[in-house]
Amino acid sequence: APHFQFKNGTLHAENLSLTQLAETYDTPLYVYSRQALRDAWEAYRVATEGRNVLVCYGMKANSNLAVLNEFKNLGTGFDIVSGGELARVLAIGADPAKVVFSGVGKQVWEMQAALEAGVKCFNVESEAELTRLAQVAQDMGKIALVSLRVNPDVDAQTHPYISTGLKENKFGIAIEKAVEVYQHAASLPSLNIVGVDCHIGSQITEVSPYLDALDKLIALIQTLASHGIHLKHLDLGGGIGIRYTDEQPLTPSDLLNKVFEMLAQHQLDHLQIVLEPGRSLVGNAGVLLTQVEYLKHSEAKNFAIVDAAMNDLIRPTLYDAWHSVEAVKPRTQGDTLYDIVGPICESGDWLARDRKLTLQQGDLLAIMSAGAYAFTMASQYNTRPRAAEVMVDGDTAHLVRPREPLESLYASESILG
Ligand code: LLP
Repeated sequence: APHFQFKNGTLHAENLSLTQLAETYDTPLYVYSRQALRDAWEAYRVATEGRNVLVCYGMKANSNLAVLNEFKNLGTGFDIVSGGELARVLAIGADPAKVVFSGVGKQVWEMQAALEAGVKCFNVESEAELTRLAQVAQDMGKIALVSLRVNPDVDAQTHPYISTGLKENKFGIAIEKAVEVYQHAASLPSLNIVGVDCHIGSQITEVSPYLDALDKLIALIQTLASHGIHLKHLDLGGGIGIRYTDEQPLTPSDLLNKVFEMLAQHQLDHLQIVLEPGRSLVGNAGVLLTQVEYLKHSEAKNFAIVDAAMNDLIRPTLYDAWHSVEAVKPRTQGDTLYDIVGPICESGDWLARDRKLTLQQGDLLAIMSAGAYAFTMASQYNTRPRAAEVMVDGDTAHLVRPREPLESLYASESILG
């Protein structure tokens, strides 16, 4: 990651040393690089230039307002999955006409809030949701703009927990049923069909699963047209992977070059393409900074017990995910294999395993590639306040979310009299 580099033997975020940041803000600490966000966007900007594409940042990956605002200013829309995420995008003054609303379980109040705001599209994932949305819109005297999220039954070749486009997944409407559901949608006066949507998975490294999905969506779009249902946009979801270790993921250009080629072949290049990338915009723009509290050597293992834990970063234990670990000030003498573990009372509380490091108590470690699905998946388990978040911009650090005050974790609870 070019914005997290060693300078004079110390790992930096842009121009600031992580040692300095730990002193100022304490650990565990999320550190983001503003330039890394801009660079990640640049790959999308280049790929979308001169093409009718709307990039809706999949904000579940990292929904800090500073991150959202950066992307808003760069021109993205947003992919939201809850009324809470809608509230965040409205809080930064984003344009609701660039917001798509995904998710299998939209509640009435969430539909109402999104209709009130005027979102670009609801990505509807079931017939029951379609019925509810039509009713909610009708009661409000509004027209809901709708895409169906179809399940194209393709294998994204990624971790089963983050693969979403297979028949057995809970997501979307089976593609064989889609025409029927579209026809039903077309008959409902409070709905206006605008598109089709799919999202096949996350941390995808190849173009081919996207093209398999696109193939099926193109066939669907053609069938719909023969029934007089004409779409304005085609949403291919998110999913472009990042490099955690030695992956060579596809780039936005790899994807869009192929997509536009296929659309042209089928005379469908009038369609707007929507993308919902999350991880690829933020994943490598953040690290989790943590301090070694204790070293513990047993017969079987060497443990570095650090002050970050599974409540801060759950990906390793939840997905067996691999995050690279860097000593902020690497020592030279001799290497030991360490498991990096947190203080939580669970064997699953580990951040990395069998890493060659030379450590002493008090050393700082950076858990890399922690910009996506890291803070947003954090909890307060063991009554641990969620970590602070800092955004570095050149020579300046901005505290974009302070560490949660301990009392705030239980301040709204009450005891029985
Ligand atoms: N659109 C939809 C409908 C989604 O469900 C997702 C992610 C995205 C877009 C963004 O996907 P991305 O570009 O970030 O791959 N917590 C897991 C990842 C879960 C992804 C959920 N959906 C992880 O830490 O790996």
